[in-house]
Amino acid sequence: MSGQGRQGTEGRPRGRPDGPSGPGARRRRRGGDAGVRARTTSEPGGAAGPPGSGHPPRGRVTLVGGGPGAVDLLTLRAWRALRSADVVVADRLGAVGVLDDLPATTDVVHVGKTSGHHPVPQDEINRIIVARALAGAHVVRLKGGDPFLFGRGGEEVLACREAGIEVDVVPGVTSAVGVPELAGIPVTHRGTARGVHITSGHGGLDTAAIATVRENTTTLVVLMGVSSLSTIVQQALRAGTDPATPVAIVENGSTPAQRVTRTRLDEAGDVATREGVAAPAVIVIGGVAADGLLGGARDGRLAGAGV
Ligand SMILES: C[S@@+](CC[C@H](N)C(=O)[O-])C[C@H]1O[C@@H](n2cnc3c(N)ncnc32)[C@H](O)[C@@H]1O
Repeated sequence: MSGQGRQGTEGRPRGRPDGPSGPGARRRRRGGDAGVRARTTSEPGGAAGPPGSGHPPRGRVTLVGGGPGAVDLLTLRAWRALRSADVVVADRLGAVGVLDDLPATTDVVHVGKTSGHHPVPQDEINRIIVARALAGAHVVRLKGGDPFLFGRGGEEVLACREAGIEVDVVPGVTSAVGVPELAGIPVTHRGTARGVHITSGHGGLDTAAIATVRENTTTLVVLMGVSSLSTIVQQALRAGTDPATPVAIVENGSTPAQRVTRTRLDEAGDVATREGVAAPAVIVIGGVAADGLLGGARDGRLAGAGV
């Protein structure tokens, strides 16, 4: 495996837009259509239909959490699943750099949003993974972070089960915890935060998240919150949250472009605008986001974090 994953278009391996798998889908194919080749029952995942039934062998699906981006944050189980896949259906975020290290016969289908292309709708992603598995392939659905945290992994599991496809899930390092960690921020810390509340910032905070941030013993971790940051700040302040509550915004966690911006709640919107903060980013609100909490942080990274 190569050392660091790359994100966005930089990490996209060879591929062409608008392949036959759906609008915006990109795929790499080397060495023919590995995804639809017939399997025997002795191959892993090659659960054939009943002998003589005339039905094609049935494949399987593995949802793989790829972590926040760095390839060396993939788990060993994730790597093994990827190496054994006939087809990899990949998101834009996450350890896309690993795609370059797959066998030449692995068929890669890109379904994440890239500049100039809309993401493939979830229904279409479900259709792709089910169709390829029904045709006999071992399909790995490579997802950013952990499949079950804002990853729509549950919907993909249900789609497979409804189609009678065997499906497994490989947990991944979620950006909600791993990205702050790589920036030297523990989401809980004895004496500072006794719990953590992870929420989507899309469109602002819901009432449970607002209550969390006001009552300042639990860390609030916000994903998908950059474009709603000023709304989030207003909601928290209106609810009576201490304006000096520490805020840290970690962009592109685990990649060479990782950047940490530290500020306080009442200044967070202005600071983020001034600094040009952009997605993907994790926003941490609470005492754990205070600069120097762990003392040893340098430039937003713990010593050794890049090993
Ligand atoms: C649709 S959610 C998927 C979360 C993913 N399933 C996980 O467990 O990390 C996408 C959001 O995750 C966060 N995110 C994912 N990767 C990130 C990274 N490398 N650095 C910062 N934030 C990241 C951002 O808030 C982004 O908008």
